[in-house]
Amino acid sequence: MGRAVVQITLIGLLFALASTLPNKDDWDIYSFHINSTVTSRYATTVITSRVANRMNESKEIEFHVRLPKNAFISKFRMFIDGQVYDGVVKAKEQAQQQYTEAVSRGESAGLVSSVGRTLEEFKTSVTVAAHKKVTFELTYEELMKRTHGKYELQIHARPMQPVRDFKVDVYIHEEAGISFIDVKGGLSTYPLAYAITKTHADKQAWVYFYPTVYQQKMCDSCGDQGMNGDLVIVYDVNRDNGLGHIKKSDGYFVHHFAPSDLPRIPKNVVFVIDQSGSMHGRKIEQTRIALIHILNDLAEDDHFGLITFDDRISYWKRELVQANSKNLESAKNFARNIEERGSTDIHEAVLQGARMLNAHNREGSASILILLTDGDPTSGVTNLEKIQSNVRQAIAGKFPLYCLGFGFDVNFNFLEKMSLQNNGVARRIYEDSDADLQLKGFYEEVATPLLTDVTMIYLGGTNLTQTNFSHYYNGSEIVVAGEITDNNIETFTPQVVAISSNRRIIFSNPSETVESTGTVSDDHIQRVWAYLTVKQLLDKELQLSGPEKEKVKKEAMELSLKYSFVTPLTSMVVTKPPGENTDVFHKPKEGETSQRWQPPGGQPNFAHLAPACGYSGQWVHSVADFDPVIRSYDYIKSYDVGTAVFLEPSDALIEVTTGYLEPTDDLIEVTDAPLLYRFLLNSTGNQTVPLCFDISGAIILKLFHHPSRDLSVNGELDSIANGGFSKIFIHLKTHQHVEVDTESQRVIVRDGQTVTYQAAGQDPSTVGSVTVTVYNTEIHIAAEDILLVISQHEKNGQRLLWPVLRQQPSTNNTEGLLAVKPAVYEVVQQVPVTKLKIKNQEIDVTSDSAIDYSTDPPVTKNCWLMSADSALQRPLADFFMAQL
Ligand SMILES: *[C@@H]1O[C@H](CO)[C@@H](O)[C@H](O)[C@H]1NC(C)=O
Ligand SMILES: *[C@@H]1O[C@H](CO)[C@@H](O)[C@H](O)[C@H]1NC(C)=O
Ligand SMILES: *[C@@H]1O[C@H](CO)[C@@H](O)[C@H](O)[C@H]1NC(C)=O
Ligand SMILES: *[C@@H]1O[C@H](CO)[C@@H](O)[C@H](O)[C@H]1NC(C)=O
Ligand SMILES: *[C@@H]1O[C@H](CO)[C@@H](O)[C@H](O)[C@H]1NC(C)=O
Ligand SMILES: *[C@@H]1O[C@H](CO)[C@@H](O)[C@H](O)[C@H]1NC(C)=O
Ligand SMILES: *[C@@H]1O[C@H](CO)[C@@H](O)[C@H](O)[C@H]1NC(C)=O
Ligand SMILES: *[C@@H]1O[C@H](CO)[C@@H](O)[C@H](O)[C@H]1NC(C)=O
Repeated sequence: MGRAVVQITLIGLLFALASTLPNKDDWDIYSFHINSTVTSRYATTVITSRVANRMNESKEIEFHVRLPKNAFISKFRMFIDGQVYDGVVKAKEQAQQQYTEAVSRGESAGLVSSVGRTLEEFKTSVTVAAHKKVTFELTYEELMKRTHGKYELQIHARPMQPVRDFKVDVYIHEEAGISFIDVKGGLSTYPLAYAITKTHADKQAWVYFYPTVYQQKMCDSCGDQGMNGDLVIVYDVNRDNGLGHIKKSDGYFVHHFAPSDLPRIPKNVVFVIDQSGSMHGRKIEQTRIALIHILNDLAEDDHFGLITFDDRISYWKRELVQANSKNLESAKNFARNIEERGSTDIHEAVLQGARMLNAHNREGSASILILLTDGDPTSGVTNLEKIQSNVRQAIAGKFPLYCLGFGFDVNFNFLEKMSLQNNGVARRIYEDSDADLQLKGFYEEVATPLLTDVTMIYLGGTNLTQTNFSHYYNGSEIVVAGEITDNNIETFTPQVVAISSNRRIIFSNPSETVESTGTVSDDHIQRVWAYLTVKQLLDKELQLSGPEKEKVKKEAMELSLKYSFVTPLTSMVVTKPPGENTDVFHKPKEGETSQRWQPPGGQPNFAHLAPACGYSGQWVHSVADFDPVIRSYDYIKSYDVGTAVFLEPSDALIEVTTGYLEPTDDLIEVTDAPLLYRFLLNSTGNQTVPLCFDISGAIILKLFHHPSRDLSVNGELDSIANGGFSKIFIHLKTHQHVEVDTESQRVIVRDGQTVTYQAAGQDPSTVGSVTVTVYNTEIHIAAEDILLVISQHEKNGQRLLWPVLRQQPSTNNTEGLLAVKPAVYEVVQQVPVTKLKIKNQEIDVTSDSAIDYSTDPPVTKNCWLMSADSALQRPLADFFMAQL
């Protein structure tokens, strides 16, 4: 659909930085340690930062770190001048009250906010007297989740300045034996790689990362502010293919079950794909790509179905069919032609998917339903509860439903609840250049079912975490923890019953696999149990309502309090030295996309914004962490580590290529605001600075019209080609056309009924009076006295087209944007505003810049920015076309 369309010129921009935080020279982080200990896949990480105030007056000193979203903070303390200030975990309501009181007294409060896909941020500060020191110590805990056959421990290091004594120590102890260990992540690359030491014994492994101050400044994405990046420890344990590993301690046990030598079970999979209008552009394209990859990966004995939906349902086939090469080819064709259109009828689509699977009852197979959507239900049944209850009824526990929420317009809570109610999980697909890989990565997690109907049985066990699992997939792991009744190890008997293809299998071999830590009594396994129990209770709470929900919530909260976990139900209250505010930390909840941080009184208080950044349209970014700059943007066009493209309220587009963007994911809502495209107009005479102007909206422009040759060229500005034209059509006589677009690599030449596809390297083709030659990055359209060159550029992974009239026609009756004569102007005034005089008209302009795509490579040029009408000396609307 012709949606407000857009384009943008991106300008590298330097920001004037107003320093709002303490000057880093004032205080010195003289020691920064991260110590991670992993035992039985449970990681406890302690970050210790020691800071000295080198000034002769008191200073506010910050502690600002990032931890994995999956982790629970379990301890925070500050040591100042011989005093310890301990954080206390309290029920959220109680803490909230304290928070509100603090805020009403005009004090700020600490915050945890989510950043990026996997991290959240913890930030606090304290005032330290002259020449005194402070030690911050934060502890968090997490259970590693096995996916794709490995565990990943992510450690984010960003001490905010180069630190003399910087250390990351990771110690892993796995009784089963460590099969491999690798160090990945941005901080593992040259030159920091030299600072990593890895030692791997049978059951233990150590990773030390001790970069020097010099190395901390030299790495990629490092600078005067020191390191900023991840160290990811990747490992797996040896598998015995039986009952797995059971570890017991102090009356608790944890069981890791992940056999891998089983045959795969053929699967029946139905993909339900959203093709509503909001999937427009890159999302639908990435979905097509991912789907084709996924189809390629299906095994011949898999059966599959494909449904696309907007307000209507389209079937590739009404029933599931076998994944043989003929069916796959046809399905891939269907996938290639998925186009976005209408609204979103999730209800009908999921029910139809369930119907297809229900109708396809195949012995010894595993059925899976996968929904991909990017929006809320807007058509058909839209009541969320009604959808959930109908879907639940249709699936009736027979197969899992996985929901993939694409982008941030989805109601993730709704998807999560629906998945959990149907034995599945929901996943976010981040709108980014790797979205197709994220989709494929998710599919691979469920691609190889090895067992179905897995029941974990523990005689002599109690207070068990989840024991029934509909599927077990290769590369994953089932983890169950519980209490051993009366700590009686003799009577404790674990067993797993499951179905592998058509066979019922019983795994039981306790004598060999049950192992006791034996060493000093510790509460480690008990904490694993508590962590898992709280996580599962939180999931359960989401699915329930009424008194049941309250009961589960209470249970989860009590456990969180007992084990001092900061969960979505609890908060940490940190009391600081007298005279200072009290900080309250809440854990952000995945899926709370619309949770806006509302400052008291309604108006945004920028000082509070930096960590929360919860104000629509407000973003904090900084070239250095110490110098955050708060700016207003209408929306973020795209976002990646280190690069963000913003649209400012003034409609100027800004690309931030250095530095770092602060707001949470939750805030990055990529809306369909109109994009802009900036055009350059050359000047002649003694003025060399070109003019520039912006065009926005859903527009097809007349690029060139040569009446005496029956030649016209039109171009479409489109958000698909971020920064240029997405389609350029050349029309000759009525039935002769040349079509160039960014989607296909070929040029289509139509001459009546004859259609030729022309790709690079082929001989030129001729239609009417023009000759079309396709080169790798250029297409030449030549006609006697004209040479039109359409160059293809790539910007942020997207192709765009750019037309240049390389040889101007000798006649002067041509029209269109490319035929506009260079401007002749004078600068008549420079202060307070610059004024140009064009044809006796004085026009206010601003100095700006634009990318000139007519050169290869494109260059950024300074230009005088003005309205399109002024630059062109006629209404822009004169160049609009109704169709290509
Ligand atoms: C890391 O933490 C563990 C467990 O608390 C402790 O035994 C060890 O000494 C610490 N290592 C360092 C280098 O501080
Ligand atoms: C702090 O040091 C500055 C210069 O280093 C000096 O001017 C100032 O008087 C000192 N203040 C105190 C309270 O000693
Ligand atoms: C399961 O994964 C393991 C290792 O990743 C692999 O060796 C094995 O072949 C896989 N099993 C199946 C049935 O694909
Ligand atoms: C564990 O189970 C027992 C009964 O088997 C129960 O009394 C106890 O409260 C449970 N503990 C927890 C922490 O749920
Ligand atoms: C788990 O599955 C077994 C056998 O399928 C069933 O008897 C039991 O009730 C289930 N337990 C739960 C908690 O759903
Ligand atoms: C504008 O002028 C520059 C330099 O004279 C030239 O390279 C460029 O092709 C011109 N652009 C257009 C659109 O004519
Ligand atoms: C530039 O050209 C204009 C006429 O187009 C003339 O009036 C002006 O004096 C010239 N300026 C310079 C610096 O040559
Ligand atoms: C160009 O236009 C002028 C009038 O604007 C006209 O006098 C002249 O003949 C035209 N030249 C050609 C080659 O068409």
